[in-house]
Amino acid sequence: MREFQVTPWEVSGEVDYERLIERFGTSEIDEPLLRRIERLAGGLHLLLRRRIFYSHRSLDWILDEYERGNRFVLYTGRGPSGHTHLGHLMPWMLTRWLQEKFEAKLLFQLTDDEKFLFKQELSLEDTKRFAYENALDVVALGFEPDKTEIFLNTEYIKSQYRLALKVAKRTTFSTAKAVFGFGNDTNIGLIFFTCMQSAPCFLETERQGRAVPVLIPCAIDQDPHFRITRDAAPHLGYPKPALVHCKFFPSLAGGSKMSASSPESSIYTTDSPEEARRKIMNAFTGGQESVAMQRRLGGRPEVCSVYSYLSYIFEQDDARLEERQRACRAGELLCGECKQYLAERVLEFLEEHQRRRERARDRLEEFMVRD
Ligand code: TRP
Repeated sequence: MREFQVTPWEVSGEVDYERLIERFGTSEIDEPLLRRIERLAGGLHLLLRRRIFYSHRSLDWILDEYERGNRFVLYTGRGPSGHTHLGHLMPWMLTRWLQEKFEAKLLFQLTDDEKFLFKQELSLEDTKRFAYENALDVVALGFEPDKTEIFLNTEYIKSQYRLALKVAKRTTFSTAKAVFGFGNDTNIGLIFFTCMQSAPCFLETERQGRAVPVLIPCAIDQDPHFRITRDAAPHLGYPKPALVHCKFFPSLAGGSKMSASSPESSIYTTDSPEEARRKIMNAFTGGQESVAMQRRLGGRPEVCSVYSYLSYIFEQDDARLEERQRACRAGELLCGECKQYLAERVLEFLEEHQRRRERARDRLEEFMVRD
C-alpha cells in the first residue's frame, strides 16, 4: 500500500484508518463504548453504528462525568475556504444529535483567520463571506439557538485571545514543526494559528469558573491540533478536551477524501439539482468495463464511490445496503441503476437542506456571538 499522510492541511495517499489510530495514538470506539453511548442516548446515530465515527480520545471520561451529572459542552468548527460540501456536514450531523441527546451546549468556531493565512488566493473579506455562508448550513441542521454559539475568529477574538496566548506560551516551535510539518517557508501566522483552535476548549471553564468537560466531534485530520491542546491543558489548569473522530467523506472521483479543491468530485450544499445529478452520474464506481463483464464478474463496492456515499449516510436501512452490496457483487446490479438511486437520495436531501438553509438567513443572528 502507498504511504499516506494526514495533517490538518494535507491529506494524501490511500488512508488506512486502522493504522492512523496507531500513528496518532487514539483509541477505537469499540463495541462496549458504543453500547454505553446507546444506553445513555437512548439510541445510536447512524454515523456511530456504521463506524464512520470510529476513533476517540477520553470519550469514556466524558461519559463518566455525564453519569455523575457533569454535563459536557460540544465544540466543533469549520475553516471557511469555500462553500460547504456533504463531507463537512457529517461531523455537524453527529454534533446535532449529541446536542439533542445529551442536552449539550455547542461552541462552533469559524476560522476565517486560518483560511486567510492558509489560502494564498483568499482575502479576509472572502473568508468572512464564506464563514457566513457556512454558518447557514450549520443552522439548517437544526441546532438549538439557546444552546448554540457560532463565531468567526476575527469577530470573537477578545474572548479567545487570552486563552490562545496561554497555549502559545506552552507550545514550542519545534513541537509545532513536528506535529504539522511546518518548514522555513511557512508563514508565521499559521504557526500561531493552532492556539486559536485550542481556545474554545477552555472557554466554558473560564466562563463558569469550574472544570467543564468538552467533547469535540471532528474529522480525524484535526486531531493534531488537539494533541497540542491536550498537552497544554493540565499545565494551564484546564481539563483536556475529549474527541470523537470520523473518517473522511469519500470523493466522487474515487479515493478517500472529498476535496474542496476538485469541485466535480464533491457535492456542495449550494449545488443545483442538475449539478448534483451530473456529478453523481459521472462518479467513479467499482464497475467493470462493459455490461457483459459486469454481469459475469460483478462490481466492486469496496472501491466504489457511489457505494461509499450510500453506506456513509444515504442508505440508512442496513438490510437494503447489504442487499445492494450482494446484488452488485453478483453482477445483478449495474452502475447506472445504482447512480440513479443515489442521485434520488441526494437530491431529496439537498432539496430539504436548501429549504432550511434559506430559512436560516433570518435566524442566523440568534446564533452568532461577537465581542
Ligand atoms: N480547522 C478546521 C478546518 O479547517 C476548523 C475548525 C476550527 C475545527 N475549530 C474546530 C474543526 C474544531 C473541528 C473542531 O476545517
